[in-house]
Amino acid sequence: MPGFVDVHSHLVFGVDDGAQSLEHAIELLTEARDSGTRLVFATPHVVPPYHDWNASQERVARIRRHFAALQAQAPTGIEVRLGFEVTARPHRLRPNDDPARFRLEGTEIVLMDGPQAGPWFGDATMERLIRRIRAEGLTPILAHPERRAAWRREPPDPGFAERMKNAGALLQIDASGLTGADGPNTDVESRRLLAEGLINLIGSDGHGAHSPVRLDIARDMAAEVIGEAAATRLVDGSALGL
Ligand SMILES: [Fe+2]
Repeated sequence: MPGFVDVHSHLVFGVDDGAQSLEHAIELLTEARDSGTRLVFATPHVVPPYHDWNASQERVARIRRHFAALQAQAPTGIEVRLGFEVTARPHRLRPNDDPARFRLEGTEIVLMDGPQAGPWFGDATMERLIRRIRAEGLTPILAHPERRAAWRREPPDPGFAERMKNAGALLQIDASGLTGADGPNTDVESRRLLAEGLINLIGSDGHGAHSPVRLDIARDMAAEVIGEAAATRLVDGSALGL
């Protein structure tokens, strides 16, 4: 089936740094459809307080309410499903934690927030979370490994993406990584990762503004590195059987 599948976007309004209102979310969804996307996962940030079910459930309930409002008004020609972008944090992976509740709807996939443009608290635990998700029989996707290249205060770590891949994650670069909008060197690093065959998926990570919910431009940029057929396979859902 033609059309793009976007595994990463911030379309659930009013819950994170993505769409700020229902109208804004509908606008972004329409833009996604008009640029060729047929299925988009809305993946709001969750920093799971795994040991605090009440707080977590309250936030997840709010996300579900806003998602339902979005889905009810979604334009025709594009399917929107709920997912989450799970942030790794130290001390929050206990034996009875359940990463499965953050699966992308209708899949066995868990989207994980990757590195930011500078060192942050999640870095030390990303590999651990990848292994944990795998141990639960789920498939982790690690978002935007290319942002590691934007670190300025420390030597770059060219082995980061390779380590996450070896730990068992599928790697997803952002459209805004390819354009360089996510920080210095992310464009160069995205192309290196593509050229070395490490990337499984491209997502928009669309928030609006500097990171639009579009995969057509990203596909074309990737095609300059790996050719059109290979680039299309990173955005058409085939890597996930969707
Ligand atoms: Fe994101």
